Amino acid sequence: MINVTDAARTILARNDRGGYTVPTDGLYPFQWNWDSAFVSMGFATFDIDRAYQELERFIQGQWNNGMFPHIIFHVPSDSYFPGPDVWQTDQCHSKKPLTSGITQPPVFGMALRFLYETVLATGRHDMLARTHTLFNAALRSHRWWLEARDPDKRGLVAILHPWESGSDNSPAWDEALVRVPTTTKTEICRQDTKHVNATMRPRNIDYQRFIHLVEVYRECQWDPIKQWSHAPFKIADVQMTAILARATADLIWMASQLNLSDALGELFTMHQLLINGLNSRWNQHIRGFVSLDLISGKDIEKPTQTCFIPLIALELDSYQRKFIQEEIERWCQGMVIGIPTTAPFSPDFESKRYWRGPVWAVINWLIADGLRKNQLKELATIIEGNTISVIERAGFCEYFDPITGEGLGGNTFSWTAAAYLVLRRRLTDD
Ligand code: DGY
Repeated sequence: MINVTDAARTILARNDRGGYTVPTDGLYPFQWNWDSAFVSMGFATFDIDRAYQELERFIQGQWNNGMFPHIIFHVPSDSYFPGPDVWQTDQCHSKKPLTSGITQPPVFGMALRFLYETVLATGRHDMLARTHTLFNAALRSHRWWLEARDPDKRGLVAILHPWESGSDNSPAWDEALVRVPTTTKTEICRQDTKHVNATMRPRNIDYQRFIHLVEVYRECQWDPIKQWSHAPFKIADVQMTAILARATADLIWMASQLNLSDALGELFTMHQLLINGLNSRWNQHIRGFVSLDLISGKDIEKPTQTCFIPLIALELDSYQRKFIQEEIERWCQGMVIGIPTTAPFSPDFESKRYWRGPVWAVINWLIADGLRKNQLKELATIIEGNTISVIERAGFCEYFDPITGEGLGGNTFSWTAAAYLVLRRRLTDD
């Protein structure tokens, strides 16, 4: 019988396209931003050179203004929509490879620290130049985040497109998305529903709005200042801000390891701003942290996984810790596998539809990390153990039905394989 760790490594090898990894064959045929960061950590558990290469291929797509795009189109493929012909970003960042025009959660800095810790633990001394290059790219991208997506210095970075959040059709975006027109000039030729059952994917009306937003920003020639003033969708997102804050703390660690004192001051200032912003988003009714709709001015009080992600960056006080622990336990009650990405008691909950309920291994990885950071190790271990078990039973699926434990969406998924490798190692080290 094949051992599951070997099977996870085989998935990564199978999805390797020459130094970068596709999330899965067919459905996602290019290099995706946060997928790749998670995948590099999976590789780091057994092949540190290949782990570095994943991030090195990724930064080839970095824009001159510092942005890390959400997709790098290294080679053409017609199995995905929207491709480079829809994004039309080539005149704006004037670099090869072609890319999309929006971004995704900045897990990169967290991954870089994970990789460098592995280098230090194995006593390698030949990785310094490679590490410096990746650090500089990460620092430029963090500067972009604060300049382009928090121009008012709230300490909260905004998403201008639901795809940027990585949680595309989360109920958290419903109210704001209703304001986005459904008209498009582009013909919508969805490819995703050829690979995956349509009931597990966003709806057609969501896609009309997703593409409408792409067209608005394309007409702004992907200029961040114009985009900020024309955006019909603008949300100061606590999930994104938390990942950026945590990644900033990880870059602070990197800068001290690498003796980069010039970068340290700047990173400390960035970090403090983001921590203050996040702390201001605690919501007692939701028992978690809530995002802010910058167009309506309203708090987004939807119970989704975003409410718990700030744990990865913050030191909670004892009340917050207690409430969050109770809340996560409540969400998991009666579930075969937690944590659902939308609370099961919410009217928006759908156990099989993408970000409206299913469990994602990488989200469990992040939340468990945050629980460990906040002295809730017992709960973290339960979540990690359940994630490992569901993968062992259902395979390396894109996501899982929390009620039945069934594997859903695409299969042979790279980031699920990476999550398996990292979580398994973590539990073994405990
Ligand atoms: C998709 O196409 O499903 C992605 O989530 C956008 O990156």
